[in-house]
Amino acid sequence: MADDAGRPFGKSTPRIDGVRKVTGAARYGSDEPVPDPAYAWLVMSTIARGRVVGFDLAVASAVPGVLDILTHETARGAIKSPPGPDGKPTTTTLESDRVWHAGQIVGIVVADTYEAAREAGHKVVVRYAEEAPSAGFDSPGASLEPKPANPQQPEPAKGDAEAAFAAAPVKVEARYSTPTQHHNPLELFTTTCVWDGPQLTIYEPTQGMWGLKNAVAKQLGIDAANVRTVSRFVGGAFGSRGAATSRTAWIALAARRLKRAVKLVPTRDQGFTVSTYRAETRQRVKLAANRDGRLQSLVHEGTEVTSRPSNYNVSGTETTSRMYACPNVATKVSLVHADRSTPGFMRAPPDTPYMFALESAMDELAFALGMDPVELRRVNDTQTDPISGKPFSSRSLMKCFDAAAEKFGWARRSPKPGSMTDGEWMVGYGCATSCYPSNIGPAAARLTLTPQGKARIELAAHEIGTGAYTTVAIAVADGLGLEVSDVTVELGDSRFPPVPVAGGSNNAASTTLVAMKACEEARGRIALAAVKTNAGPFAGADPARLRLAGGRLVGPDGQSEPLGKAVGRVGGVIEVHAENVPEGLPPDAAQGLYQGKTAMVRGTGRKDVTAFAFGAHFVEVRIHARTREIRTPRVVSAFAAGTIVNPLTAYSQFMGGAIWGLSSALHEATEIDPLAARYVNTNFADYLIPVNADVGQVDIIFVPEEDHQVNPLGVKGIGEIGIVGMNAAVANAVFHATGRRVRDLPIRIEDLL
Ligand code: MOS
Repeated sequence: MADDAGRPFGKSTPRIDGVRKVTGAARYGSDEPVPDPAYAWLVMSTIARGRVVGFDLAVASAVPGVLDILTHETARGAIKSPPGPDGKPTTTTLESDRVWHAGQIVGIVVADTYEAAREAGHKVVVRYAEEAPSAGFDSPGASLEPKPANPQQPEPAKGDAEAAFAAAPVKVEARYSTPTQHHNPLELFTTTCVWDGPQLTIYEPTQGMWGLKNAVAKQLGIDAANVRTVSRFVGGAFGSRGAATSRTAWIALAARRLKRAVKLVPTRDQGFTVSTYRAETRQRVKLAANRDGRLQSLVHEGTEVTSRPSNYNVSGTETTSRMYACPNVATKVSLVHADRSTPGFMRAPPDTPYMFALESAMDELAFALGMDPVELRRVNDTQTDPISGKPFSSRSLMKCFDAAAEKFGWARRSPKPGSMTDGEWMVGYGCATSCYPSNIGPAAARLTLTPQGKARIELAAHEIGTGAYTTVAIAVADGLGLEVSDVTVELGDSRFPPVPVAGGSNNAASTTLVAMKACEEARGRIALAAVKTNAGPFAGADPARLRLAGGRLVGPDGQSEPLGKAVGRVGGVIEVHAENVPEGLPPDAAQGLYQGKTAMVRGTGRKDVTAFAFGAHFVEVRIHARTREIRTPRVVSAFAAGTIVNPLTAYSQFMGGAIWGLSSALHEATEIDPLAARYVNTNFADYLIPVNADVGQVDIIFVPEEDHQVNPLGVKGIGEIGIVGMNAAVANAVFHATGRRVRDLPIRIEDLL
């Protein structure tokens, strides 16, 4: 029984979907059985800039089994591309003859079999009028422009950063860069579309069930009520499935033309341009401090690559300007438009690249000051947002540093770079701050509770690998005083009430809060029925003082009865449709969810406080004296992220994030052919990610933190924070091991020769 002492909230709970996941019963979108599907193959542009002047389809059409070939000529104007996150068009797919980037979809072949579609796809001849493309930074023809001003979110600034920099006694100034990266979730970017009369069902991995539903309806010009999206289990997302792309509506159109289900399973290679990516950045940081280490000036400028039509950017200065007390701050973000596909969210989109620069610069400043890097963070720690002047809702940064430093053995570090060796290995210790803003959105859910004491909750939330089924079950069990095993959770179907896009680490807070609200409504009805009866233990009691605990309804004087009996008194199964709107949003904010919009309360956009989760990474690197082989035998990371709903799955999130941080420091980079503006290493052989041998001991520390302001449950979210800052911690450790400061990621052997 879940009595008060053993409340499910915060108790490690095995995944309720664990058996389904390891037995194959958990289905990805393309595994959902559909009757007699035809198969689609994407024909993608081999040029990065220019126009399609014609197609030769005769040979492709003659391949046995080919049913249809869609091009901008055969399906002109049928569909409008969805706008990107900034409301601008992303790219056009089959919509016109314009080619915006290499790997743009220019044709879709549909056939009876996958093999026939693929063969015919390779036999489609596309004739282009090619123009010289710009691949990115430094490419001729790429245009550098300031980021368009956003009055709602001005560039963080205060004081006179340049004057303070000039006047300060100790300063560092450096340029940093981060590479293009691709998410590469294991599940491919698949889409299956099935029509039943006017009703369209879409099976597609997504982080935005209702967003995809509404986007596709809009593109096809049909009523969103006729579109159902299904995505019960997603094989990784990391931001790559946050916004709708144009492929979905085209597959729907292909299915409508054929009057037959159509299934698309793009290849790994095609995934590099079917979806989005993390764009490369270049940054400049200037830090100045007094001799005691106190910051006097922070200047952080970033330049990001985006596509020609889009202004997508991540602007991580929103985060970096808030990390430390500093009286003078100047920030600026610029964009380089190139002939590239439009970038998008990738885990901790702003924070991962921009905190690399800030936290590397902090390490450089500590060295210039002759100060311990942890002490430099301590001297500049603050409980007040330096830009807005609002208090942090809670900030346990130094507790994280202290807990991780102790476990790591930071005290054993000899400060001088290159001074620690072990046989043929140069040893380096590095650390860095981790952080992520605490975001939350409105959400809706449907709850039923039976007289047998069984609960069922339905919401169109997203299981992207994080353990969402289980966190929701925990919330319901907690709210109704039940065991987790008494709760059935249904996610991943737009027939269920909408929740925000599973992005910005809002998922745990948004979904558990609406679940708790639904439970509270159910409790209220049960309590009201109980006090209204003339007989029975609760007659005449204050309904507000009746609780659900241990499978019972419990009164203020300890009287109780089985929950089932209390539910029965209400008159059978209790059904609740709940909507939760977080403080700071208008009361009707939940309405937008039904149109596929997410109104988010951002951690930096709140009236009362600034809300972030914080952490600290410590890493040991070992670099071989002769080969310069780089190893990371030990990582200790501590996080304080408010209430942890399920420590078991949270541990996995933190650990996965920390490992991905190692990856972003040492392994990952999408290589771009500068002349062709084409991605080169579009496979798991050439796109480097860490394997087990690259990862040593990873210790995760949970620093307890109660936050009563961030939201009623104190949940800050943990999906993204794990990766943030680890790249800098590794670079700082490499400097400590070798005296060599590498400011351009990833750090490879050749950087240390
Ligand atoms: Mo996250 S990159 O907002 O899925």
